[in-house]
Amino acid sequence: MSSSEDEGGEEYLFKVVIIGDSAVGKSNLLSRYARNEFNLHSKATIGVEFQTQSLEIDSKEVKAQIWDTAGQERFRAVTSAYYRGAVGALIVYDISRRTTFDSVGRWLDELKMAMMLVGNKCDLDNIRDVSIDEGKSLAESEGLFFMETSALDSTNVKTAFEMVIREIY
Ligand code: GTP
Ligand code: MG
Repeated sequence: MSSSEDEGGEEYLFKVVIIGDSAVGKSNLLSRYARNEFNLHSKATIGVEFQTQSLEIDSKEVKAQIWDTAGQERFRAVTSAYYRGAVGALIVYDISRRTTFDSVGRWLDELKMAMMLVGNKCDLDNIRDVSIDEGKSLAESEGLFFMETSALDSTNVKTAFEMVIREIY
């Protein structure tokens, strides 16, 4: 997946945001997707960071500008400004921490636009606190796609991002 130089061809740029409570794994989902990297001891994101990822859809180059936001409450005012202009979003919770699932509604209210509900850390199945069915039915009632992912072992990471990008393309 090369990020080729400007070739003068048609190009599409989309802004996608990743939101959800602190420590659910948003930054690691993005680093796994964009760079195939995972960090067991990643620091909390301060404010926002973004990465541009290119992919090919119907033989056209599509660029997604993916914004990784801070989940910590104290950054809430800062991050909401960055939702502007976004056409897709992944709302992430941690399947091993129910409080992060309980927050999904609040994130949805704030965003008013979403595509994908992501239950991250599915490698932690042994200490699961939210069932797959609960994730599925919340997604269904809110009209979202749903997927469980693991930034640690790569399960569904690419699929989750590319589903959102394809949907808005
Ligand atoms: P904020 O920036 O504070 O909003 O947090 P975040 O959502 O970006 O979380 P981050 O990606 O920094 O990950 C938090 C912790 O969870 C880190 O210790 C990661 O290594 C760990 N983590 C992230 N994804 C996974 C996963 O899929 N499985 C497991 N087991 N741990 C994960
Ligand atoms: Mg982060």
